[in-house]
Amino acid sequence: MLADPRYVPPPVRQDGAEGTLAWLRARVSRFSTGEAHARRRRELVALLDGLAPTRLRREARALTRERDGAWRGVPTAVLGAALGVGDTRAVPVAAAGYLSGEETPQADAAVAELLELAGLPVITLLLQGHAATEALVENALRHARPGDDVDALLHETLRGDPPLRATRRLDTRTGEEVTIDLVAANRDPAVFAAPDRFDTSRFDPGRFDPGGGPARHLTFGHGVRPCPAPAHAIALAGGVLEGVLG
Ligand code: HEM
Repeated sequence: MLADPRYVPPPVRQDGAEGTLAWLRARVSRFSTGEAHARRRRELVALLDGLAPTRLRREARALTRERDGAWRGVPTAVLGAALGVGDTRAVPVAAAGYLSGEETPQADAAVAELLELAGLPVITLLLQGHAATEALVENALRHARPGDDVDALLHETLRGDPPLRATRRLDTRTGEEVTIDLVAANRDPAVFAAPDRFDTSRFDPGRFDPGGGPARHLTFGHGVRPCPAPAHAIALAGGVLEGVLG
């Protein structure tokens, strides 16, 4: 389904008042299809190409240490600074409604604040990245054991305890909406031996793909519209973990 263009993201409403969360959702790559999706995605990829993951990682580590391990907000602050946004306080509130579509006065106000600071492509990256990256750090910290390799810990967390657990598609032939269960997909016994065991030794650090790691799990999506920023997400989360775990 993720690789089949007949399955598209369920459409979002297109008639939101200018500057609101609904207006923003009608204009981003994530909820677009066809040519609009391709054009919007290209803009984001061009922005991401200008951000070096090694630098994001170093800065996330430094800021986490500077804050004595109080890491919440660090990934978004570091990503924001790299994109020229010095104040990312509005991001969590706007991000809370971004994927769900839950429209609240608070989310609309946060979107309006962000629009004062940056253009749509930059805001999209901040909103897309925020919740999933924080959840990745949170889940990885829950599984961390002394001596763990940070990258192996992150990749096994992405597989076994993913920060994003499902995504939805509309079948354009039948009009039916389907939920794709990423947790179940990542536990396919034909792909991962003993899939219910959390085992950081599955991932050999020597074999990491610098573009985002062993891609056999589906946590970064697949096919037509996968996450364009797995290396950035891993860099931000990895820097935070290094800052917290020593
Ligand atoms: C652990 C952290 C992250 C995870 C697990 C994750 C996962 C995903 C997934 C699964 C999708 C595709 C959704 C679908 O096909 O329905 C996606 C899309 C996207 N992600 Fe990420 N992501 C993460 C972090 C980030 C970060 C840090 C950024 C920005 C720097 C980002 C930017 C995007 C964008 C822009 C899209 C939309 C792509 C498109 O519309 O073609 N993500 N992400």
